[in-house]
Amino acid sequence: MHTEIPTPTYIPTLPPIHDYGIAIVGCGGIVNYAHLPAYRTHNLTIVGCFDRDPAVAARTAAAHHIPRVYDSLAALLADPAVTIVDIAVPAWEQRAIAEQALAAGKHLLCQKPLSEALADAIAIAAAGERAQCWVAVNQQMRWSAGIAASADLIRNGAIGTPTDAQIWVSADTPWHMWPWLRDSAHLDVMYHSIHYLDSLRHLFGNPAHITSRHARYPGQPERAETKTVTILDYADGLQATVMVNHHDASRDTAATFRFLGTTGIITGTIGSMYDYPHGRTDTLSYARHGDALVDIPLKGLWIPDAFIGPMASLMNAIQSGIAPVTSARDNIATLQLVHGAYRSAQQGRTIAPDSLSS
Ligand SMILES: NC(=O)c1ccc[n+]([C@@H]2O[C@H](COP(=O)([O-])OP(=O)(O)OC[C@H]3O[C@@H](n4cnc5c(N)ncnc54)[C@H](O)[C@@H]3O)[C@@H](O)[C@H]2O)c1
Repeated sequence: MHTEIPTPTYIPTLPPIHDYGIAIVGCGGIVNYAHLPAYRTHNLTIVGCFDRDPAVAARTAAAHHIPRVYDSLAALLADPAVTIVDIAVPAWEQRAIAEQALAAGKHLLCQKPLSEALADAIAIAAAGERAQCWVAVNQQMRWSAGIAASADLIRNGAIGTPTDAQIWVSADTPWHMWPWLRDSAHLDVMYHSIHYLDSLRHLFGNPAHITSRHARYPGQPERAETKTVTILDYADGLQATVMVNHHDASRDTAATFRFLGTTGIITGTIGSMYDYPHGRTDTLSYARHGDALVDIPLKGLWIPDAFIGPMASLMNAIQSGIAPVTSARDNIATLQLVHGAYRSAQQGRTIAPDSLSS
């Protein structure tokens, strides 16, 4: 017997109205190599940008033909042409900007992590609800081809009841791209594995328990954890593991996922982790148990193509009234996993993530 090749639906699509005015706050690396290229592909309307370093804002505006550079956040927020504020600054700067933008009646796309402190993330979600504005979080891995296609297959019953999920990444991560992370007290889980934890929630929902162990590479320049193993236990017996090593100096990078169920299996690779941020297209294979794996060809790159997903979802929320898929409220459960992982590693015990509020 041969498994037929299914055709999953996974390419993000924009809602009917998508000419909302977007202004960017923070014009650093990710905006230049991911946000703006994705928005240009889809002809979105970027009305202006602001960075606390005016030269960086001017350079970004020139490179991406952005018509206006604001000289302050207040000027950006006072512009009636701006409906959506797209924030991409280090996490500890995000709450103050988000609260001012919400007070000005703007809808927000915030970068991940929404905040390093759970209490700040909860405050941002509450401020959005008070202002009756949508706050989406840029957890765009959900729209990466491999994860989005897996989600569609799993939703359609391709593997039966999910029983095991594994994400394994061993790579030489270019931490020098984010000099401000070198002395951060949190590294892999807060800034990287957060994508895998959020994707696992997208695929399988919220686990009942989390257990995590963290380690460092000998002599590493970064202060915090660069090697982690995290286990998510679900109430129904599903178990998910996330194993990440950012100090793999071999040329044998591994970045794979494997989702097993009672009737089938999905395996694949996370293309972005092979030569970040250039990356390559994800791969995906699928089989019903007993059959040989078949390859399902995918299109697109996590960076930049998946970056249209959270923006499209935010625009859909504005016109439909249905919360963005990665709303700030939803993201609190992802951050509970992040903080649960740190607490587990520090205290050497298993944590119930939904019990965490700080
Ligand atoms: N895959 C992803 O989703 C992904 C990847 C990389 C980075 N990020 C996130 O995006 C954010 C930015 O990362 P980056 O790599 O672009 O960093 P970066 O250092 O290249 O850029 C950050 C920019 O923000 C500006 N800035 C800082 N504080 C500001 C403030 N209060 N007001 C205005 N501008 C301010 C800085 O001057 C800088 O130009 C971070 O939160 C990071 O975690 C997400």
